[in-house]
Amino acid sequence: MALWGGRFAQGPADSVAALSRSTHFDWVLAPYDIRVNIAHVRSLRASSILSEGDAEKIQVTLVALGEEISAGSFAPIESDEDVHAAIERGLTERLGALGGAFRAGRSRNDLVVTDFKLYLLDHLIEIGAALTLLIEEFNAKADEYKDAIAPGFTHLQHAQPINFGLELAKHSQALLRDQSRIRDWIARNSISPLGAGALAGSALVPQPQNSASELGFESVHANSIDAVSDRDFVTEALFILASIGIHLSRIGEEYTLWSTTEFGWARLDDAFSTGSSIMPQKKNPDIAELARGKSGRLVGNLTSVLTMLKGLPFAYNRDLQEDKEPTFDSVRTLLTLLPALTGMVSTTSFNREVMASGSIKGHALATEIADFLARGGTPFARAHEISGECVRLAESLGKDVHELSDQELQSIDPGLTPDIRLTLSASGAVSSRTSIGGTSTESLIKQIHLLNQRNQADIEFFDRKRSDFLEMIHV
Ligand code: ARG
Repeated sequence: MALWGGRFAQGPADSVAALSRSTHFDWVLAPYDIRVNIAHVRSLRASSILSEGDAEKIQVTLVALGEEISAGSFAPIESDEDVHAAIERGLTERLGALGGAFRAGRSRNDLVVTDFKLYLLDHLIEIGAALTLLIEEFNAKADEYKDAIAPGFTHLQHAQPINFGLELAKHSQALLRDQSRIRDWIARNSISPLGAGALAGSALVPQPQNSASELGFESVHANSIDAVSDRDFVTEALFILASIGIHLSRIGEEYTLWSTTEFGWARLDDAFSTGSSIMPQKKNPDIAELARGKSGRLVGNLTSVLTMLKGLPFAYNRDLQEDKEPTFDSVRTLLTLLPALTGMVSTTSFNREVMASGSIKGHALATEIADFLARGGTPFARAHEISGECVRLAESLGKDVHELSDQELQSIDPGLTPDIRLTLSASGAVSSRTSIGGTSTESLIKQIHLLNQRNQADIEFFDRKRSDFLEMIHV
């Protein structure tokens, strides 16, 4: 059904209708559109544009239409330009002329932004809750491996032995930053655009505060042009989703690497890996690879909307309709990926022996020699040089640096007394790093304790937001 037409001698050409139509993707906004329209009808009632009886009739019909939409018995048809037009058609089919009365004093321009904000709030809450489950698994795995020793890498070369729990806990840290971004988004974007009208505000609804608080927004827009032009809430959300995607891609890369025959650290569970159609022995880390691969579209979706907005004139331009598909895609991508990745993380086991045996290869204890000398008063630059000489000697003898004999060490520097053996071992190196956030088990236990506390706070936060949202949306 066309929402306009009075000034046109004929309807749009078929090719134009096909280009213009958005119901095949914006139909997911329908539940929010129903709810926003109900709030608007109440505003029209409050300002006496609608009589009590008419407002009641429209409201009851909107609720019933919402139920039909969720049951799948009301759907858009070819002639509906967008979700808003389809819903107005539904209302008009049921109420006759009264069906067209409810859009007084608002425009699709303020409606679509309000719908989209509610959609994003709803789905960011869902993604936040899904993330708490992944973080919970990483915290639990970090705890399980809080005393497993593994090689630590820089430049993908052996660097220093570390506690494997530290590797796992770092993912919780990154994902908790994403959680705090979601919380920030919720706090910053709780501003209702409804009442901005097409661009200039509404002559019929002078009190947009009422619909704003009914819809759970903390405040009302301060500028009607900004309210209909602003898509920062979209690009910010897309950045958060891309950031989560980037984190998941790095997790995916690690699990892919760790499960290779060369590493032999990780054993993926059968339910969370896949086979090959030709090589019967294969067990592939496809979930980890998909996590890595899907980050591409998440970044692309952010780029797509930013590019669409660049240099765009203010107030509504039809270009803005292009904000939706990338956003829906990013949301859907993460809601599909997160549960699978969470399952993979919770079911993967690691081989402690293999990790420990590799942990001191590649002269990974050379820093211990320098630290030992520095503790004894040797300036670090000198200590570093001496340790380097030890590596050179070890290499010429075909050994690792920790395999040098007491005499060999002393031949390089008399300060390298046998006491050095206390830290010249993987466990000595790991347990000596007791700084905050360091790799000792002692430090890691404290870190995990704080991670669990923060995740618990997020679980409660998203629970609360979810129930507030449900309370708002169900009239
Ligand atoms: N379907 C449009 C969108 O998603 C909203 C309609 C506003 N259209 C207009 N011609 N003012 O952005």
